[in-house]
Amino acid sequence: MSKFYLTTPIYYVNAMPHIGHAYTTLAADAIARYYRQKIGEDRVFFLTGTDEHGAKIAEAAERDGKNPKLFCDEIATLFVSTWQRLNISHNHFIRTTDEYHEQGAAEFLRALKVKGALYEGDYAGLYCNGCESFITEKQLREDGLCKDHLRKPERIVEKNWFFKLDKYLPKIQTIIEQGAISVLPEARTEEVLGLFRQGMENFSVSRPNVRWGIPLPWDNAQTMYVWVEALLNYWTAVHKRQMFWPPDLQIIGKDIIKFHCIYWPAMLLAYYDGDAEKIPKTIFAHGFFTVNGQKMSKTLGNVIDPNDLCDRYGRDGARYLILSQFPFGSDGDIEEGKFDEKYNADLANGIGNLVSRVTTLCVKQITDWQKFWKLEEEQEIKGEKQDAKELINNFMLYEMIQSVIQDARLCDEILAKEKPWQYDKQKEQEKITADLAYLISRILSIAKDIAPFLPLTTKTIQKKIDISKKIIEPVTLFPRK
Ligand code: MSP
Repeated sequence: MSKFYLTTPIYYVNAMPHIGHAYTTLAADAIARYYRQKIGEDRVFFLTGTDEHGAKIAEAAERDGKNPKLFCDEIATLFVSTWQRLNISHNHFIRTTDEYHEQGAAEFLRALKVKGALYEGDYAGLYCNGCESFITEKQLREDGLCKDHLRKPERIVEKNWFFKLDKYLPKIQTIIEQGAISVLPEARTEEVLGLFRQGMENFSVSRPNVRWGIPLPWDNAQTMYVWVEALLNYWTAVHKRQMFWPPDLQIIGKDIIKFHCIYWPAMLLAYYDGDAEKIPKTIFAHGFFTVNGQKMSKTLGNVIDPNDLCDRYGRDGARYLILSQFPFGSDGDIEEGKFDEKYNADLANGIGNLVSRVTTLCVKQITDWQKFWKLEEEQEIKGEKQDAKELINNFMLYEMIQSVIQDARLCDEILAKEKPWQYDKQKEQEKITADLAYLISRILSIAKDIAPFLPLTTKTIQKKIDISKKIIEPVTLFPRK
């Protein structure tokens, strides 16, 4: 693989960054870091950003009594600083109010019009501002409210420009059935194919009464429908970095499958005249989590700010607690009350304790340093473990983390069995040196495997245990809570 272009959804700026957003972004970050190790820094392009136009954002700004752009600036800054805090290694942060995006998106739509993929028509039906989506009666709850936003959708009658989805549906269906776009986990492929069976309407690409948006280049009375504009971020961001096109992996939450697996490839097929080489290769839809059994919501007051986790558990500790809860792809529940327990079990008493004990023992017990360094150098520089490779290639992030935690436990068992502290420093130096050299090399291999997830921890371990510089210093990685 010569390049790897990886994206997250761009997040709406009507809400502060929470651990739901952080979950997707951290998963993408771990994968990006892994690919950088594998194919080289400059061959990976990792994109994230914010979705800033549309009625929902305009409404939120108005509620706050702010001009929409200033409102977006404030929240986008919060996203950027939160991602900095979590050590997210994106190559670019796109904001849909960036000028190059506005221009690029307009250019793309103009091309679709020229290619005859658009037509003008009337929409009469329901619209949920929360979803920023046209919806049907069938999708509502019995009491007529939107299932996700618990609000009554607006009934609208308006002129829109439409995309001729019907023209592209058969091809997209074949592409997905044959795996040219791989929709993962596999159950999600079934879900998408189910959408084809239900049948899908042509969709709007513009709306007349939404002022906070990008005007259509040929019809100033309309602005781009925010979902269409948002999807185009993946394209406008690399417009000047064509070597990265098309996306290799797009990570999304399961809530936005239809837009990514159907609308988006259809728009690209229209733009690229049916060239299936120009559409995303893999779309991975992960599950959603609840907090203490309930959906995260402002009203319930259970929204977790990742910055608070960083304050309490450190940056790697927060990354760990967000990513290690349940298999990537499944739904899960996060028990806030168990953060301390998990942090202590896996990090403070797990990897942290192992590294601290072994480094301390080295300093205390080793007298024959010459022999120790020699043994270390002789230890085969362990390549990446085959199973780790397989796990990450299948996006099994949770299992990968588990396997490293398990490795640390095994080292603990070896330590408990061998008890290098009980040996006589002078008479049994050979045994002590051999045991500790072995454990140190296993720790270095753990540090390598955990790097995509806990990059700062890896750096600290590699600084404190540096074979080439003959350094071993005791270190506390994760103070107990
Ligand atoms: N702006 C659109 C996406 C446009 S992409 C072209 C949007 N934004 S959002 O702010 O609502 O973010 C949605 C994404 O945040 C989800 O797809 C998912 O990746 C993540 N999550 C939000 N809440 C989440 C959970 N409770 N659990 C897991 N992920 C969650 O939709």
